[in-house]
Amino acid sequence: MHQPPDTRYVEDRSPGSGRLTPRAAFRSDAPGIPLDGEWRFRAAAGLGDLTAGFDDPGFDDGAWDTLPVPSCWQLQGVGSPAYTNVTYPFPVDPPRVPEENPTGEYRREFTLPDDWPAGRGVLRFDGVDSCFAVWLNGVRLGDGKGSRVPTEFDATEALRPGRNVLAVRVHQWSAGSYLEDQDMWWLSGIFRPVRLLSRPEGCVEDFFVHADYDHTTGVGTLSVETSAPARLSVPELGLVDADPAGPHTFAGVEPWNAEQPRLYEGELTAAGERIPLRIGFRRIVVEDGLLKANGRPLLLRGVNRHEWDPETGRTLSYETMLRDVLLMKRHNINAVRTSHYPPSSDFLDLCDAYGLWVVDECDLETHGFELVGWRGNPSDDARWRDALLDRMRRVVERDKNHPSILMWSLGNESGTGENLVAMAEWARTRDASRPVHYEGEWDSGYVDVYSRMYADHAETELIGRGEEPPTRDPALDAHRRGLPFILCEYAHAMGNGPGGLSEYQRLFETYPRLQGGFVWEWIDHGIARRTADGRVFHAYGGDFGEPVHDGNFVADGLVFPDRTPSPGLVEYKKVIEPVSIGFGADGRSVTVRNGHDFRDTAYLRFRWRAEDDGEIVAEGVLDVPVLPSGDRVSLPVPALPPVKDAERALTVVAELAADEPWAEAGHEIAWGQTVLAPAAREPVPERLLPTVAGRGGRLALGPAAFDAHSGRLLAVGGVDVGGLRLDLWRAPTDNDRLGDRIADRWRAAGLHRLTTRTLGVESTAEGLTVRTRTAPAGADHAVNATYRWRSDGRSLWLDVVAVPEGKWPCPLPRIGLGLSLPGRLDTVDWYGLGPGEAYRDSTAAARLGRHRRTVDALQTPYVRPQENGNRRAVRRALLTGAGGGGLEIVGLPSYDLTVRRWTSAELDAARHTTDLVPGDRLHVNLDVAHHGIGTASCGPGPLPQHALGAGPVALRLVLRAL
Ligand code: GAL
Repeated sequence: MHQPPDTRYVEDRSPGSGRLTPRAAFRSDAPGIPLDGEWRFRAAAGLGDLTAGFDDPGFDDGAWDTLPVPSCWQLQGVGSPAYTNVTYPFPVDPPRVPEENPTGEYRREFTLPDDWPAGRGVLRFDGVDSCFAVWLNGVRLGDGKGSRVPTEFDATEALRPGRNVLAVRVHQWSAGSYLEDQDMWWLSGIFRPVRLLSRPEGCVEDFFVHADYDHTTGVGTLSVETSAPARLSVPELGLVDADPAGPHTFAGVEPWNAEQPRLYEGELTAAGERIPLRIGFRRIVVEDGLLKANGRPLLLRGVNRHEWDPETGRTLSYETMLRDVLLMKRHNINAVRTSHYPPSSDFLDLCDAYGLWVVDECDLETHGFELVGWRGNPSDDARWRDALLDRMRRVVERDKNHPSILMWSLGNESGTGENLVAMAEWARTRDASRPVHYEGEWDSGYVDVYSRMYADHAETELIGRGEEPPTRDPALDAHRRGLPFILCEYAHAMGNGPGGLSEYQRLFETYPRLQGGFVWEWIDHGIARRTADGRVFHAYGGDFGEPVHDGNFVADGLVFPDRTPSPGLVEYKKVIEPVSIGFGADGRSVTVRNGHDFRDTAYLRFRWRAEDDGEIVAEGVLDVPVLPSGDRVSLPVPALPPVKDAERALTVVAELAADEPWAEAGHEIAWGQTVLAPAAREPVPERLLPTVAGRGGRLALGPAAFDAHSGRLLAVGGVDVGGLRLDLWRAPTDNDRLGDRIADRWRAAGLHRLTTRTLGVESTAEGLTVRTRTAPAGADHAVNATYRWRSDGRSLWLDVVAVPEGKWPCPLPRIGLGLSLPGRLDTVDWYGLGPGEAYRDSTAAARLGRHRRTVDALQTPYVRPQENGNRRAVRRALLTGAGGGGLEIVGLPSYDLTVRRWTSAELDAARHTTDLVPGDRLHVNLDVAHHGIGTASCGPGPLPQHALGAGPVALRLVLRAL
């Protein structure tokens, strides 16, 4: 007879039972058996639905399904993902959780080989969400919580020669869920690898590598604490079979830093085992109010990274992790905050090897308690102390040997309290070599850096100056004022944006106390799904019928779910480039500044090119002397041929001179551009044609036809033009919709339902003048526009002057013209800023040149459709199609351009990319200006200089049929 399973551990605050002491993660040549692959699996609806005797080795699971390990079961068709940001998806009644507690029963067999050594067997789980119990051959080994920190059990007594049966019961909800309220999908299961490890008699269970670097002497000091006698070799440093404890000193070692991640290969040998080591010498300190590595202050160009894959959720392949690291390195990123839990150890190995500073964060967030006034918050309740301390221990012990780890972070958004203080104290005692980070306590009493999220530019500047308001507790003010400042989250990369990055970077580069920050966040956590007709889209909160959810707030990354870089990442790469290239006001000198923290510029090659109206007229290599970090040099610009009737741009690019492990020679790191000669003006022709009456109620002016009644343009040459009118609307971006909700004000002002009335159509000997009034129903604010059309027979000149009337209640989304063109014009060639999307406060990465894209490629597929794809400062665009013909649109001097196969209203109405169905017309916007993008979805809106107030504007265009 089987007893009903004892599941009291589920609602127990304890971190687990029967577990082994936390220790470093490492590989060795001791045998191990990977236990990944297909396991037998049964999904139980709750604790009342468990399989009696499932842990019995004789239990027949032949009728069960299978499930891959590792995986998140909701992404394998078992149950559904659910997304909330702050809200717990169950009543806040700690430590109790719902009776409907989806539970996975996992079983598998494995064979212990005959040559399995004597000694201990350890069963290691790298990540199980959120709570589990383990049986080996019917023997209960223990249970655990702490989804993203490892758990090990001693399997020695239960192991059998030959066939072994492992049974694991995993519960979606547990007391631990209260500690895991991170802003992400709720997913469950054995989502990281499982392994049986042999621990030979007398082996080293744990070790701690201390590899210090003294930048004043260049001496490296190495000492490895081991839990058992061992020998240490680092052949490259002449150390062979030495006492690990040392300390061993080495003159002239090359230190580790994220720019030059020098690792020394070593080996620890103990009874029955060899453990490879990768040692990086470095010293991290907070000194004189600055966060320094190897004596130099750091400027963190960081991102927050969740582990995410659109198909497999938080189960990531090694290739995916490597892809993240390579993408980061290629985009000038030098730091990662592992929001908000420690990542797979493989990711940290990659950070060591390729060079990224890591803020390693504990698996802790209790944000949902904020919604109940922080009552019962585990951070300040002694009954949870063990659970919190246990999590901190498991991070620090697992990861302590990674040179890339810069700081320990206690967790995220967990209020404040004594348990956090205890975690900080424990971490500092265990590892004095790394500062402690936590953002949730602004007085910063128990941390070593002052960290905040989403502080706006003005507040950040105040902090940079050291003029911020005092701490709430006066006793902590002096401490906090002495701390370096980082923005552990800023520039919320949700949808279109973030705007305002350049202005943040300028502050970071101006005030030494501001040591950079981490953009929120690296990747959109969209889940790949298919429409009935097989088109892929990315699902977000609410798409799985969740009663409580936070919509597409889960899609706020610099890369799309499939890891395609978004325009935000391209912008960030430019803004944080470690070398700045500028030009003298007179255009005669070019200045190169090395903004690296450590590296000199010897690894870079500088190329220049001069372009006239986008055509290369001269190019070469700029001879820049090797600049040590922090140095700058001014050089004369290269001698150039004279320029005639063209706009001349000079571009200087810094690129890799040779292959780096993370990118090939020629990969671009930084660039600068200046306009040396302004564009030649296209003068209004002297001989102008009159407007003449045409057939069918039309007016003709040169190549153009107009409706005589409304004065609307109908065609230019063979190209029919639809609906040309003044337009103010854009499909609100996430940053327009959320935060200060400017889009609500736009809708209240009727900007999405403007109507236009013709006030007058006047044919003259020199063209046509049309006056219109554009206004929404029910309001008395309007924009009056005068269109003056002129033609010399070939070209059509348009001067638009728009003047707002009445009291405008809000800034405008944009102002310009909207029109439609035949859908066959599927390609756009333009000379202006590009090649990517740009808005007035996200324009750093766009450069002047000739660019070409298909209409489809001009669209940016934000997970939730919204305004996108704007090309700025377009001087000239040609819209052409396969059938020949087309339209040229010249701006005098320029305009902003979007070209889409759907209207702004359709874009606004769409909820997923697959809702957008191409029509047979192109919808083209030719704009004077847009409102800035900002980052109000979480953080500040556009800076005042990027707001588009209602005021008079003028636009001059020339249209020509091709
Ligand atoms: C922060 C939080 C992140 C994320 C972000 C908004 O408050 O730490 O986890 O929720 O806001 O996307």
